[in-house]
Amino acid sequence: MKRIAVLTGGGDAPGLNAVIRAAAKTAIIDYGCEVFGVLDGYDGFIADGGVISLDLAAVRGILPRGGTILGTANRGNPFARKVIQDGKEVVIDVSDEIIAAIKKLKMDAVIVIGGDGTLRIAMQLCERGVPVIGVPKTIDNDVGGTEVTFGFDTALTIATEALDRLHTTAEAHHRVMVLELMGRDAGFITLHAGVSGGADVILIPEIPFKFESIMKKVRERAEGGSHFSLLAVSEGAKPLGGQVVYSRSGDAVYVPRLGGIGQEVGKYVEENGFESRVTVLGHVQRGGSPTAFDRWLATRYGAAAVRTAADGKFGNMVALRDAKIVDVPLSEALAVPKRVDIAGDGVRTARGIGISFGDE
Ligand code: F6P
Repeated sequence: MKRIAVLTGGGDAPGLNAVIRAAAKTAIIDYGCEVFGVLDGYDGFIADGGVISLDLAAVRGILPRGGTILGTANRGNPFARKVIQDGKEVVIDVSDEIIAAIKKLKMDAVIVIGGDGTLRIAMQLCERGVPVIGVPKTIDNDVGGTEVTFGFDTALTIATEALDRLHTTAEAHHRVMVLELMGRDAGFITLHAGVSGGADVILIPEIPFKFESIMKKVRERAEGGSHFSLLAVSEGAKPLGGQVVYSRSGDAVYVPRLGGIGQEVGKYVEENGFESRVTVLGHVQRGGSPTAFDRWLATRYGAAAVRTAADGKFGNMVALRDAKIVDVPLSEALAVPKRVDIAGDGVRTARGIGISFGDE
């Protein structure tokens, strides 16, 4: 193994730079490789100046930095690229070009750091001969095959702090504070932050809710002397028999953008006699410095990705299982998206301490 490429794809997550740094350092120091960074996801392979050298100097000082020094793209799917042809917008497949570029660059391994979408593309490229190793990234924690993706711990720490801050103002003003959190179709951020931040109601995509059940909890608390409540609402939560709320629809390239359920919940609460305010935490959850846990996990993932490549286990993804770093086939990891186990100990614990999921 002589030449390794590293790329980051999809939405950013705190810890990306820590993975890049660990992969580059391990490949250079431990294996004597030459390391390259691919700019802005897969696109970098075919863009002018899109592949840069990643020597030790290039990765110096990046461990605590958010974002990614390589840039990323969440519409950089080589199998579905939107371009203008003859004045018309069309979707084309540039995967052959990307594969040819990787071959021409004589890459012995391509480390792909991404979530579900980016890793699925990696798997398809691997099936066509690209020597790919995956690293599971996303604040949503929804990639299968691993207990945790890096970025999740930072996001839930930020979300927990937001709940703590909303708590004091909720109590001071006797208000119901709604916090809409990210996570797409998985409720991990909302469940974990909701429990850690003392939410009274947690709404997650895995448990459809009833508006009236939310009010039941809010009224119960008021009757007990607590004239304020904290509601943690996942962006993908939906009412029983209803639909998720999108702020922008999707197409062949863009996935639909979730957002707006927090406002609907806040409005309902207010219409039912309780003053309410809604906060949408948004990309604050993705920005800034990773927590120590995410730096530790990201560093272990980056180093393990290089070792997995050296072992020739292409088409695999590094993963955390039973607190150990292992590797699993991408096909296995991506077979079923990971969701909150509604019969698991997290939800049971929350219910047991009186938190409502808006379903009773
Ligand atoms: O997948 C990570 C994530 O932050 C989701 O939680 C969220 O729905 C989405 O990305 C937002 O994407 P964008 O950065 O395109 O707005």
